[in-house]
Amino acid sequence: MGKIRRRLLAWFAVRKRDLPWRRTKDAYRIWLSEIMLQQTRVAAVVPYYKSFVARFPNVQALARARADAVLSHWGGLGYYSRARNLHRAAKEIVARHGGCFPREYDAALALPGVGRYTAAAVLSIAYGQRLAVLDGNVARVLARLGAVRGDLRAPALWRKLGATAQELLAPNAPGDWNQAMMELGATVCTPKSPRCGECPVAGWCRAQKLGIAGQLPAARTKPATVQMTLAAAVLMDPRGRTLLVRQTGGDGALFSRMWQFPALETTADAASKLAHHLREKFGVAAGGQMTPLKTARHAVTFREIRLEPFLIRVARLPRIGGARTPVLGRFGHLPISNATRKIAGAAIAQSAKPSCP
Ligand code: ADE
Repeated sequence: MGKIRRRLLAWFAVRKRDLPWRRTKDAYRIWLSEIMLQQTRVAAVVPYYKSFVARFPNVQALARARADAVLSHWGGLGYYSRARNLHRAAKEIVARHGGCFPREYDAALALPGVGRYTAAAVLSIAYGQRLAVLDGNVARVLARLGAVRGDLRAPALWRKLGATAQELLAPNAPGDWNQAMMELGATVCTPKSPRCGECPVAGWCRAQKLGIAGQLPAARTKPATVQMTLAAAVLMDPRGRTLLVRQTGGDGALFSRMWQFPALETTADAASKLAHHLREKFGVAAGGQMTPLKTARHAVTFREIRLEPFLIRVARLPRIGGARTPVLGRFGHLPISNATRKIAGAAIAQSAKPSCP
C-alpha cells in the first residue's frame, strides 16, 4: 500500500488548493473550518472563515462572545445550528479542557456538533492522530477504487467503507492523507464525469479498469424534497423602519433565533392569510395595501421554500415586546438569515420605485 499512499500524498503536496485553514495547525481554526465546510462549498466558506477568525481569533474569544454576535458573524452560511453548537462547544472547551480542543477521540465526540467525521478530521489534521475520515467524497473515492456497488450510506456498507478508509490511512501523515482523499473526491474523482485521466491513483482503481467509474456510486434514494411557501410581511413606517421578530423553536435550523420578518407558512392565498395573521398576532390592519414583492427561493436540506413577501406601509409599527425596528436593510449586527436578506432586498428595490405611476 506504500506506493498508492506515496502517489496520492505527492499529488496532494503539489495540487492542493491554498486555503487559509491549511496554513495552520491550530486545532480551533481547523475545527472551525471543518464545521463551516459541512454542507457548504469551499469557495463560499473562505470569506466567512476569514472574517470569523478575525473577530474570534481563538476559542476563548468565541466562548466569551454573546450568542447573537456569533450568529451574526455566521452570516449567510446557513444551517445556523452549526454556529450554536460551535459556540456551546467553545464554552465547554474553555470550562473543561483548559481552552484546548481535546486530543481524545471520545472527549472530542462529546462536544456539541462534533460527530465522527469532525473528530477524526480535527484530531488527524491538527494533532497527527491516526484516524481516517469518511465523508461523501472519501466514500466515493473508496467505492471507485474497490468497485463497490450499492448505496454507500446504507449503515453496513458505510461501516465497511470506514474500515477500508482506516486501513488505507497513511500512518505517518494522517492529516495530509485525509485531506488528500477529500481533495481527490472534490476535484478529480467527482460525482459526475470523473477526470480519471488526471487521477494520480487511477492505476489502482478497479472501477476505472472495469470502465464503470462514472456509474459508481449507485444513485442514492434521496428523501423527497418538501415544497413550502412562506408568506412574509415587510412592514414599513414613514421613516423607513421595519419590524423584525424572533421565533424560538418550530422552524428549527431554518430561522430559529434569527431575526426575521413576521411570516407564516401557507399553501395558497398567501396575501389574505398573511393579513389575517398580522391582524391576529400584531393588531396590524394590512387590508388592501399589500404590495407583492419579487418572490425568491430558499433551499434548506430537504425543504424547498418559496418566499412570497409583501410590502405593507403603515403609519406606525406595532409595539411588540422584544421585537426590533431597524431601518430596512440596516440590520447591523442582528443575526439575519439569507432568506431575510433576500426579502429585504426585494422590499428595498420596491420601495425605491415611485409610488405613483
Ligand atoms: N472538505 C472538508 N474538509 C476538508 C479538508 N480539510 N480538505 C479538503 N476538503 C475538505
